[in-house]
Amino acid sequence: KPGMSRDDLLKINAGVMTDVGAAIKKHAPGAFVIALTNPLDAMVTQLKRVTGFAKSRIVGQAGVLDSARYRTFLASELGVSVESVSAMVLGGHGDDMVPIRSYTTVGGQPVERLVGAKRLEEIEKRTRGGGGEIVQLMKTSSYYAAGTAAYKMVEAYMLDRKQVLPCAAFLDGEYGVKGLFAGVPVVIGAGGVEHVVEIQLSAAEKAAFDSSVGHVRELVEAMDKVIAAGNRG
Ligand code: 2OP
Repeated sequence: KPGMSRDDLLKINAGVMTDVGAAIKKHAPGAFVIALTNPLDAMVTQLKRVTGFAKSRIVGQAGVLDSARYRTFLASELGVSVESVSAMVLGGHGDDMVPIRSYTTVGGQPVERLVGAKRLEEIEKRTRGGGGEIVQLMKTSSYYAAGTAAYKMVEAYMLDRKQVLPCAAFLDGEYGVKGLFAGVPVVIGAGGVEHVVEIQLSAAEKAAFDSSVGHVRELVEAMDKVIAAGNRG
């Protein structure tokens, strides 16, 4: 709802994930699962725990949507088609998500050559607040863009596209992170999350990524407390 942050949904949605996860395990034990419930990275963690699914079979949708927003804002700034903008937004799906400038290109040119640093910062800020902006306007963000982003992932899986997409994947040492979900580029094909692509980040991007992942860790800890309190009755 307008005015809420994604993190405000932690308590209620942890319970939803627990119930839905048990049902997936029972009724669709062979499924490839794409979660898009907020706070995204914590919720997909809970879903993985409850289903017990391998890391290749469970993933969160966030980066495709966040990157689409970033690409859209850049495209309108530069007066080019969104199709000509390649970009990736990584890290947690929260207010500190990380648009990766060094991998953002417009018609093949690095974005920093085309947009000044100050304007680029404003566009990145709007990207980070893009979920809140749409919720203010529409009273929900569960709409076309989020659906389309999930559909791209479904299509990559169903058609074995082996497409590199920014998604919340379970990290097992990649990017120096172990045992947490966070937004990173992954290859999605018939094998599900076939692998995590490790790109080289600049020092500033890596620091921002680590800080965003730190926030995911805090959210998972907060979720664990909520779940433990619920179990105690
Ligand atoms: C979004 O980014 C709020 O997470 C939701 O649209």
